Amino acid sequence: MKIETQAVHAGRRIDSATGAVTPPIHLSTTFERHPDGDYPLGFSYAREGNPTRRALEECLAALEGGKEALAFSSGLAVATALLQGLEPGDHVIAPDDLYYGLRQLIGGVFAKWPLQTSYVDMTDVAGVRAAVRPTTRLVLIETPSNPLMKITDLAAVAHIAREANAISVCDGTFTTPVLQRPLDWGVDMVWHSTTKYIGGHSDMTGGALVTRYDNYLFERARKSLIFGGAVPSPFDCWLTLRGASTLPWRMRAHSGNAQALAEFLQRHPAVERVYYPGLPEHTGHEIARRQMSGWGGMLSFQVRGGRETAIAVAARVRLFTRATSLGGPHSLIEHRASVEGRDSKTPQNLLRVSIGLEHFDDLIADLQQALR
Ligand SMILES: Cc1ncc(COP(=O)(O)O)c(C=O)c1O
Repeated sequence: MKIETQAVHAGRRIDSATGAVTPPIHLSTTFERHPDGDYPLGFSYAREGNPTRRALEECLAALEGGKEALAFSSGLAVATALLQGLEPGDHVIAPDDLYYGLRQLIGGVFAKWPLQTSYVDMTDVAGVRAAVRPTTRLVLIETPSNPLMKITDLAAVAHIAREANAISVCDGTFTTPVLQRPLDWGVDMVWHSTTKYIGGHSDMTGGALVTRYDNYLFERARKSLIFGGAVPSPFDCWLTLRGASTLPWRMRAHSGNAQALAEFLQRHPAVERVYYPGLPEHTGHEIARRQMSGWGGMLSFQVRGGRETAIAVAARVRLFTRATSLGGPHSLIEHRASVEGRDSKTPQNLLRVSIGLEHFDDLIADLQQALR
């Protein structure tokens, strides 16, 4: 089945009690035990599972082409559960421009685990191979990366992880399964901040982990979810499932708008450099062409001048909103180094934008006047 059809149907059933076409939200925290002591319908207590959450998990597993999915209360709750599955002293390979929240999690919360972490430039496959140690257990991938939109060769890095007996996990937040399905390239698992494109409306917080096959890190993440308790609410699951229905069409619109903006920015004399994988000049364009079916709604650009010039451009926007996050209908702009704080390696004149679902003519007009 094509992804547009799966997005509407996977995980959903007509409600047998009422005939409702749209799935109900199950708020019950507890479920009836049968006289023989069993739970034949599969649910006993809401932290362990709930029908609305189950529907979302089935939908996400289908969209990614995975065996099974777990829904969490946020993207970083997924990452926490994954890292909790590692043993003290285990080695992790991560991109040198890893999403800063995850870098904080590894360096802050898990510092006392402790984990050994090598941050490497994942565009350099030989460098990834050289970083492998006998204790490497997890290889984290982000492609396109955040905010420099670097492209990692999924098949090559998944192969290195497999040879090292480590598990590869890709952050699919920027692309969603509509534009890139890492499991098809041999990656073991995908995680998402569903807060972004999958939810799609900037009105819920959630995360998900999808696996291609049974493995110990997935099983440990399941335990962390159920007994650690970072479970999503039924309402958030329902909102995410609703967002998933329109995901393929929204991703197409985000990508089309972002391509138009990228081409406009590239021609603009006030812009030094544009980072967007859909531009033929992008260093990862050829690999991206192979493994992505569209370029997505995220792009970054460096303004000619320094930090103050970039901040002044962001201050002048009228239609874009100065806000962090991504994946919703509103176009957002942020001075990324300010968001990431003092340790940030992001260029000081870089602005990151999440291109929304407005008409691209209006978005271009807004950036035109802001860049004046
Ligand atoms: C690429 C990426 N991955 C993961 C996350 C974390 O997700 P959440 O905020 O839902 O915990 C974010 C959040 O901004 C993100 O941008």
